[in-house]
Amino acid sequence: EAVEADPNEKPPLSTLINLDDFEKAFEKSGASKAWAYIHGASNDLFSLDANRSVWGRLWFRPRIMRKVKDINTKMKMFGQPAAMPVWICPMGIAKTAGEEGEQALSGGAAKGGIIHCMSTSSSMPPEEIVSAAPKTYPAFFQLYVDRQRHKTEALLARLNQMDQVKALFVTVDLPVVSKREADERIRQPTPTTSSYISDANQSSVDKKGGGLARTTGNFIDWCLDWDDLAWIREHTKLPIVVKGIQSAADAKIALDMGCAGIVISNHGGRALDNAPATLLILMELRRDCPEIFARMEVHIDGGVRRGSDVLKAVLLGAKGVGIGRPFQCAVSYGTEGVEHACERTCRSSTSTTNFANDL
Ligand code: FNR
Repeated sequence: EAVEADPNEKPPLSTLINLDDFEKAFEKSGASKAWAYIHGASNDLFSLDANRSVWGRLWFRPRIMRKVKDINTKMKMFGQPAAMPVWICPMGIAKTAGEEGEQALSGGAAKGGIIHCMSTSSSMPPEEIVSAAPKTYPAFFQLYVDRQRHKTEALLARLNQMDQVKALFVTVDLPVVSKREADERIRQPTPTTSSYISDANQSSVDKKGGGLARTTGNFIDWCLDWDDLAWIREHTKLPIVVKGIQSAADAKIALDMGCAGIVISNHGGRALDNAPATLLILMELRRDCPEIFARMEVHIDGGVRRGSDVLKAVLLGAKGVGIGRPFQCAVSYGTEGVEHACERTCRSSTSTTNFANDL
């Protein structure tokens, strides 16, 4: 049954002290359809749950009495400076979470010193999204390839004109939008639409009952293969990052094809359920192809919620990590909420101990 958003249930921003709190707040105060879309994942939620729980099964071996005074978390990803090795994952139709939509993610990320990766399925055009950040602030763009290739070519041409966009994340783990049962169960028209499909007389109104995600994602080309990367390269000046790598074998192909990087991802458990937890894939890469870490940027997302998770990923060779759902939920508090979420991700950049312990 659909329940409308209840602003009275929304705790004050200052009481949210970790990233999980943003999801809990949205579960209480957001519309039930929006919560089902944002929090939901595929089928039995096995991959969703495993993504999160596996981070807790890896231990640090603390070494003590080291000179840590001057350590900080600043770094560069794909040549762009960031305050910490964290970026905001691309997520569709952010207006489901709050009026400001993707502008809150872009503006809040800039205030927090991290980079936002815009989704093809955003509620508003990319030019509008980046306009919420300072003119020279970097952003990434996530591409879903359209079955109608000329539309993708037109989108890439547009991105080539946008100086703020610094990398192209090509998502490859979602050839078809999976079965998201929470989303499917609530059959409620949701008054928000993706700017990408709005010109095709489609909308995010879930008329057929397949869920909001299926409605917005039905243009995706399920036949995309490695040869298509060469075609993408012809149409973009941006470094190409393959998002959705789930095996060492595929990581090696991405490297051989000259990609600038990969994101180990199973789409936050929203693509193939029973796909392995992403941390396990990162460990597989370290075992089976350790050489790739020096030759391209390896990133990871899925269930990252604490500074300690970020530290584990970095210690295992990841250049950076993406965080998704908590930031989408933070959009219900607007730009300020997203900035607060950045701050709660890494409260102090002065020492690794704080980095691990602050959350
Ligand atoms: C996503 N994700 C996603 N990925 C992508 O490449 N393009 C997209 O449009 C979307 N849309 C989207 C919407 C929502 C609401 C969520 C929660 C996720 C997947 C996303 O980029 C990322 O891989 C996961 O969200 C990471 O997992 P956590 O941090 O949410 O656990």
